[in-house]
Amino acid sequence: MEGLKHQAIGVLNGNWKDEVGFSIPCANLYPFQWFWDSGLIAIGFAHFDMEKAEREIKTLLDTQWGNGFIPHIIFHTESDTYFPGPDFHRSDLHPESSKKYRSTGMTQPPVTGFVLEEIYRIAKDKSAALNFIESVIDKVYFNHQYFYENRDPQNEGLVYIYHNWESGTDNSPIWDDIWDTMNPPEYTFERRDTTHVDASERPSKREYDHYLHIIDIAKDHNYSDEKIAELSPFLVQDPLFNAMLIKSNESLMKLYVLLGHDEAKIQQLKKWQEKAVMSFNKKLFDNELGAYVHYDLRNERPLRFLSSSSFAPLYAGIPNPDRAASMVKIMLEKFGAEHQYLCASFDPDSERFNPKKYWRGPVWVNLNWMLYNGLKAYNYNEVAERVKKDTISIIENNGFYEYFDSRKEMHKNGNAGYGGNNFSWSAALLIDLLER
Ligand code: GLC
Repeated sequence: MEGLKHQAIGVLNGNWKDEVGFSIPCANLYPFQWFWDSGLIAIGFAHFDMEKAEREIKTLLDTQWGNGFIPHIIFHTESDTYFPGPDFHRSDLHPESSKKYRSTGMTQPPVTGFVLEEIYRIAKDKSAALNFIESVIDKVYFNHQYFYENRDPQNEGLVYIYHNWESGTDNSPIWDDIWDTMNPPEYTFERRDTTHVDASERPSKREYDHYLHIIDIAKDHNYSDEKIAELSPFLVQDPLFNAMLIKSNESLMKLYVLLGHDEAKIQQLKKWQEKAVMSFNKKLFDNELGAYVHYDLRNERPLRFLSSSSFAPLYAGIPNPDRAASMVKIMLEKFGAEHQYLCASFDPDSERFNPKKYWRGPVWVNLNWMLYNGLKAYNYNEVAERVKKDTISIIENNGFYEYFDSRKEMHKNGNAGYGGNNFSWSAALLIDLLER
C-alpha cells in the first residue's frame, strides 16, 4: 500500500499550481479550480503537506463574493481547452461577484465546513491547525448564511440548486426528467471535453444545450438569486448537496466550540441545523424506495430514483437507525451484487443505468469516501470495509481515474477507469482511506 500512497502523493503534487495556490482536478479536461474538488483535495494534502492543504482552502475562500457565495469553477488562468469558459459564464454580471477572480455564476456542494474539521482531525500540530481554522471559519459560516438566506424560498431549511453542474453529479439520469420539461434552443459551440475523453463517456450535444440555456436565463437576470428561484426551469433540492451542507453545519458548530467563541453563530447554526434535518427527513425520504431522493421544486414533485446520492445522508448523520438500516439493505440489494463494485452512482436495475457514462452508473471515489465514513458512523463496519476495499481495488487495477466501471468483469485488463486520469480527489481520498 505504501507504493500506492506514494503514487497518490505524486498525482496531487503534479496537479498543484504553486503560483496561485490551488490544484486542478486533472490536466486538460479540468484546468481550473473547482469548489468541491478543492475541499476534498485538501483532505489528501493534510496527510503529508499541511501548507498546501491550507493554501488550497485559503485560495478557494478568497474567491468568495460579497454576498457569501463561492463559485463552482474559478478560472485562475486563461485556457482554451475548456468550454464553457469565463466569457460564457460572465460572473461579472452579478453586482457582488469577485473583482479579483473570474468564475462561473453557480456553486457546488458546500464541503468546506467538514473539510476544516478533517484538517483538524488529521493535523499533528492541533494548535497550528486551530489557528488556521480560526483565520478562515467565518468565511465558511458566511457561505452557509448565503445558502439559507438566498436558496430557500419556502423557508424550509433545504436549499435548492439551479443547475445540474451545481449538484456535483453533473450528468445523473435524475436530470433527464427535468430535461423533458425543457425545450432549449440549439446552441452552436465547440465542445472541448470530447477532445480529451471518449464521447461515449460524456454527455450528448442536446444535454449541453440544456446546460447552456439554464445559464443564459440566469445571466439575463445578472445571476439574481431571486430571479433564478422564480424563473429557472431547473430548481432542485438535492439530497447530496443538502447533506454536505448539514455535515458542514455540524463541523462548524464543533469547531466554534473548540475555538471557544461565537456563541451567536453557534446558536444560529443550531437553528439552521434543526430545521434542515427535520425537513430533510420529512421531504426527501422515500418510504417505498427505502432511501432519500431528489425533489423537483420547480414542478413540485419528487424525482424517485436511487443513486449514490440517496445514501450520502448517512455521512451527515441524517437518518435515524431504522432508516439507516433500510438504506444499507437497499444499497446491498441493489448496488451490492457479487459482480458489482460498491457503489455505482446510479441504480443498476434502472434502464437509465450506464456503467461507463459520467454519473450514470460508474463508481466515484468521492462518494465512496463519504459512504465509507457514513457506514462507519452507523456501525456498519463490514459494509464500510467493503466500500474501502473496493475503492482501493479499482484504483489499483486501473490507476487514479475520475470514475470506474462498476462491473467487476470489466476490470480484468486494467481499462475500467474512465474520464480524466491522474485525478486529484481520487488520489486525495485514497490517501485518507489508507490512513484510516
Ligand atoms: C465533473 C464532476 C464534478 C467535478 C468536476 C471537476 O464535472 O461532475 O463533480 O467537480 O468534474 O472534477
